[in-house]
Amino acid sequence: MNHKTVSEALDHRRSIRIYDNNQPLDTSKVVSCIRNATLAPNSSNMQLWEFYHIENKETIAAVAATCFNQPAARTADQLVVFVVRKDLWKQRAQANIDYLNSAFEKEKKRDSKREKMALNYYQKTMPMLYGTTNKIVGFIKYLSVQFMGLKKPAYRQIKLEDLRVVAHKSTALAAQTFMLSMAEIGYDTCPMEGFDSLRLKKVLKLPAQSEINMVVSCGIRKQEGVYGDRFRVPFETVYHKI
Ligand SMILES: Cc1cc2nc3c(=O)[nH]c(=O)nc-3n(C[C@H](O)[C@H](O)[C@H](O)COP(=O)(O)O)c2cc1C
Repeated sequence: MNHKTVSEALDHRRSIRIYDNNQPLDTSKVVSCIRNATLAPNSSNMQLWEFYHIENKETIAAVAATCFNQPAARTADQLVVFVVRKDLWKQRAQANIDYLNSAFEKEKKRDSKREKMALNYYQKTMPMLYGTTNKIVGFIKYLSVQFMGLKKPAYRQIKLEDLRVVAHKSTALAAQTFMLSMAEIGYDTCPMEGFDSLRLKKVLKLPAQSEINMVVSCGIRKQEGVYGDRFRVPFETVYHKI
């Protein structure tokens, strides 16, 4: 298969609304693209994401119904749902701690200061950020950060809603990494946020604390599934050289 360069994949990727039912995808290739998605950069390497891959036609129809039966979902050969799992922060922090301990174990030249700092990050900073569910405690922390920030630069995005943005950012990067990997091999996609999150979570049997970032439909495009030429506002209106 002829693999595209990154620029070629970017050029190929369009949001496809109608797929060709006569051209099924190779599932193992889609799984490889999901594997690539896990290589996306992500906040603190906490990997607060999950990927739900759907091939079963009945489940696709059920998910499409929660996406208001948009053609991009209804005609898809497969779907991948990108899910934010902020609630898994303890497990992910522990996975990082275990990894760091084993990595330090292998190192010949140990640097205890660096080790301590790295471990502290997952043992103290992450619980401080993700473990605060009480709004009053969160507000006090927020105020103290603003106060500290009067004298020197401070990380201010520590409110509960800030952490939702943090987790969604990383998951969206995974979704884009997936879509570009699909484009690399000539597979098509459409990202969707038009869905009933409550109903979709029920179909996927997801826990209440999870959040759906995007549904990405997959298939091979029908030419009429590309809705017009690509439109972007002039580059000069969004590019600011400082
Ligand atoms: C977060 C997000 C949500 C989107 N939701 C939908 C959607 O629900 N339905 C749809 O048909 N397209 C959806 N799109 C696709 C956009 O409309 C599309 O990316 C945009 O028009 C630019 O076109 P292009 O992707 O072909 O370059 C979404 C895209 C993003 C990034």
